[in-house]
Formats: sequence, C-alpha cells, structure tokens
Amino acid sequence: MIIAVDGPTASGKGTISRRLAADFALPLLDTGALYRAVGLAVLDAGEDPGNGDAAIRAARALDTARIDETRIRASEVGAAASIVAANPGVRAALFDAQRAFAARPGGAILDGRDIGTVICPDADVKIYITASLPARAERRWKELQARGESVTLDDVAAMIQERDARDASRAAAPAAMAADAVLLDTTYLSIDEAASAARALVEAARTRPRA
Ligand code: DC
Repeated sequence: MIIAVDGPTASGKGTISRRLAADFALPLLDTGALYRAVGLAVLDAGEDPGNGDAAIRAARALDTARIDETRIRASEVGAAASIVAANPGVRAALFDAQRAFAARPGGAILDGRDIGTVICPDADVKIYITASLPARAERRWKELQARGESVTLDDVAAMIQERDARDASRAAAPAAMAADAVLLDTTYLSIDEAASAARALVEAARTRPRA
C-alpha cells in the first residue's frame, strides 16, 4: 500500500505521517527533508539558494543517509528549501530516490507537496492535510521557540505565507492537492484527533475495492 500525504508547512502532515507509519508498519519518507538538505548544503557551501547550478550540484551530490535532522529544521533552511525546490533540475535529481522508496515491496508512506500529483499519482490513498494560516503559524512558532530561535508570531506567519505562495506558484511540480485526494483540515483537531482521522481514511481505502 502506498500512502501519499501532501500539505503546506506546519499543517501537521509530518506528525500525522509518522503516526500512520507506526500504525500500518510502513516505512516513511519525509520528502521535505530532501529539499531542506539540499538547501542546507547550498548554504553551507556559501552559495545563494537561488543559484541554480549550485542547487543542482547539491541535489545530485545529496547522500540521503547522511541528512542532519537537527540543522535542516532551522527556519532559514526551510526558506532555502523552498527556493531550491522551485528548480526543475533539483526536482529531477531527487525524483528517482523518491520513486524507488515508493516502490518498496510492502508499500510506503511519502509526505511532501507533490506526492499525490507527481511522485505517486497511483497511490492507494492520498491525503491532503491543511490548517488555517494562524493555526499553522502558531505551531511553527512554538517549534522555532523550542529550538531557541527568537522570532515573532507575525514574522512566522509572513514567512509561511511567502513559502506557500512560492511552493504553489512554481512551474515545476507546484504544491497542489491531487484531484483524488481527501482533504483533512487539522485547524481545530488535536494531534490524536488528526492522526485518528487520517488512520480512518487509510482503513476506508484499504477495505474499498479499487476502481
Ligand atoms: O515540508 P517542509 O516544510 O519540510 O518542506 C520544505 C520545502 O521543500 C517546502 O517549502 C517545499 C519543498 N518541498 C517540495 O517542493 N516538494 C516536496 N515533495 C516536499 C517539500
């Protein structure tokens, strides 16, 4: 079974995907981490994330087994990720690794922005997770505070809006809900409620005969 989970920043898709992975004993690929790792590599090389050649070089050289899970969560790395992710050459360099992960025997869960539309258009279950901008800004702000980053809630909301706009308006695999995805709005849901709603969607898809 392949489960595609898409949605914008701080929608809860990462947490929900981890819960689904545990519930259904499936391997999980956080594809945003790949773009973040490319963004971080470009920054570490002292390059501008908008420098297409540097971004493609970093994407081709990416070792997915050696991603620094702590450093990639910094807010400037998120911004760099969104910039490198608009580069078609970067997306092409990361495509095969994502497809190979999805093709694992027994299935997989992938979360990102273009999983249901581009990476796994034939996924068995597609869930698009969203939440209001204020709810997402508050979640991300709390995460950044916990990391020791001093940012205001307004700055975080502005940052999220800018990233949403860039991710959705790029020409290459824009962030979008697949036509056959189910929408899950987590604005007023606790983590447990959101995770069980997602679980119910997967259970329903498992028992439904395929068209
Ligand atoms: O989900 P995230 O915040 O970790 O993603 C970081 C950036 O990577 C996001 O701004 C858009 C990009 N991304 C993408 O373009 N395609 C994906 N499948 C996953 C993430």
